[in-house]
Amino acid sequence: MLPVIQSHRVPFIAAIVLSFVSLVFQVLVPNMLANDITNTFVKHVAALHTDVIFVVIVGVLAGVTGIVSRQYLFYTAYNVEADLRSLIYQHLTWLSFSFYDRVQSGQLISRANSDIRSVQMYSIFAPLIIVQCLIGVVAFCFMLSINWALALIAMIVMPILYFVGIKMRRVMFPISWITQARLAEVATVVDENVNGVRVVKSFAQEEAEIDRLADAAEGVAWAYIKDANIRAIWSPWVQNLPQLGLALVLLCGGWMVLHGDLQYPEILAFSLYLLMLQAPFMMLGQLVMMGQRAKASAGRIFDLLDVRGAIDFNHLNFTYDNGAEILKDFDAHIKPGETVALVGRTGSGKSTVARLMTRFYDVTGGDIEIDGHDIRDVTLTSLRENVGVVLDEPFLFSISIRDNIAYGRPDASIEEIQAAARAANADEFIVRLPEGYDTVIGERGYTLSGGQRQRIAIARTLLLNPPILILDDATSAIDVHVESGIYKALRELLTQRTTIVIAHRISTIALASRVLLIDEGRVLADGTHEDLLANVPLYSEILAQATNEGSS
Ligand SMILES: Nc1ncnc2c1ncn2[C@@H]1O[C@H](COP(=O)(O)OP(=O)(O)OP(=O)(O)O)[C@@H](O)[C@H]1O
Ligand SMILES: [Mg+2]
Repeated sequence: MLPVIQSHRVPFIAAIVLSFVSLVFQVLVPNMLANDITNTFVKHVAALHTDVIFVVIVGVLAGVTGIVSRQYLFYTAYNVEADLRSLIYQHLTWLSFSFYDRVQSGQLISRANSDIRSVQMYSIFAPLIIVQCLIGVVAFCFMLSINWALALIAMIVMPILYFVGIKMRRVMFPISWITQARLAEVATVVDENVNGVRVVKSFAQEEAEIDRLADAAEGVAWAYIKDANIRAIWSPWVQNLPQLGLALVLLCGGWMVLHGDLQYPEILAFSLYLLMLQAPFMMLGQLVMMGQRAKASAGRIFDLLDVRGAIDFNHLNFTYDNGAEILKDFDAHIKPGETVALVGRTGSGKSTVARLMTRFYDVTGGDIEIDGHDIRDVTLTSLRENVGVVLDEPFLFSISIRDNIAYGRPDASIEEIQAAARAANADEFIVRLPEGYDTVIGERGYTLSGGQRQRIAIARTLLLNPPILILDDATSAIDVHVESGIYKALRELLTQRTTIVIAHRISTIALASRVLLIDEGRVLADGTHEDLLANVPLYSEILAQATNEGSS
């Protein structure tokens, strides 16, 4: 999301700077006018036409910078919107049919559209409103410098204006929300009728469908009329309160002029500044509301775009084709970014869990969810892009090491490949091979040891950079010394991603903040390494066994 805005930062920053410049010019005008009037009519020290020329020049500058800044702003706004749109639609094409079976596509499209719109509005207009508010502060300073008492009197209505603005939006918000929902309903009916036109016709349901659309359309009309009513009731308040402020300024200011405490041109400057203050006060409330709405929308767009990596295993049951039940009511929940170790006796079903995560097999009961999406609802391509698995006996192709590492991302540069190899502690042995990264592996090529193959497999998965990483005994053939080097590199990488490590060695388990002890296809215990060590006899038993095997 941020990259989207960042890629348009030049026109965006230009727009903000120009709008600030424009507003500064605008703020200068009232003060200049007041001075001019004083100099020409009160003190008779300056010629009217030179003053007027200056005011016109500053006014024109304010206008031109205002126009250009607005052009840049809308240019950025609509380009950001277009980018978000294509990102989202790209994402939607990744989702599988079963997802579309469950979600009404009309709702989906309309929701995506309005979410994009509100985020776009906020990210673009919030900075602008802030600039406006800054200008308001400057204008108020000018007012204070002219006459502080009058400035305070003029401000009396502003808090009222602010609260009326908030109140109005509070009344309007539910209605605008209802309007969005009803528009989505109309979109759904239209969508269903276009896509299901054959069914509608073959069951002679045209009349019923037309009625359905009419109902939905009436619903939209009702919402719009309500919206207009509320606006009609509230806008006169918002529009006329500032006039009340002006009247107060004229009354008190006039009185001050009569008593010689104020020059009459200053009343003019004052009134103009007061008008400038109106917008910031009205917008402040709007900013808060827009912010709330944009936050909700951004959350939904993030949901749609980014895999954060929460994994829920909801009461899984799983049986291989031969009929033996391997997982029985396996229930575990992993938070985004967490590193969890799966520990269990051999044959307890650990690797089976890894295979289910990438849908090499499908569960026979319960479901696996990533960020709340059933993994059967996403396409295999996107699932495997997001879940990287390194198996204990990795398969390598009879091609060069470089191509093996880049297998999932053929476009990767050699630098990226080397970086991944370094993180997997593979770089050091690769560069010592006769042909380095171009060494061909396999039957007629160079034979790698089990540990070297595992390191290449780890590099291959790291290059893909998946948000969810599963290491299934991925370092079992690597000696403890090299393994600790790999884990040192992994520790840095693991902080940003959800990781499941399946391991026997304490050194590997120590990577995880939580251990799930698996026995007979279910989670027997769930806690920190120390917890389990102290309280679960089976756990220390398994670790002792692993240590014995390792040392023998
Ligand atoms: N393709 C398969 N078809 C039938 N049964 C299988 C299949 N793969 C594994 N199993 C059985 O499922 C059970 C769990 O296997 P799994 O590979 O998940 O164990 P594990 O916990 O990873 O063990 P290890 O620690 O030895 O790797 C075992 O009893 C195994 O025999
Ligand atoms: Mg296994």
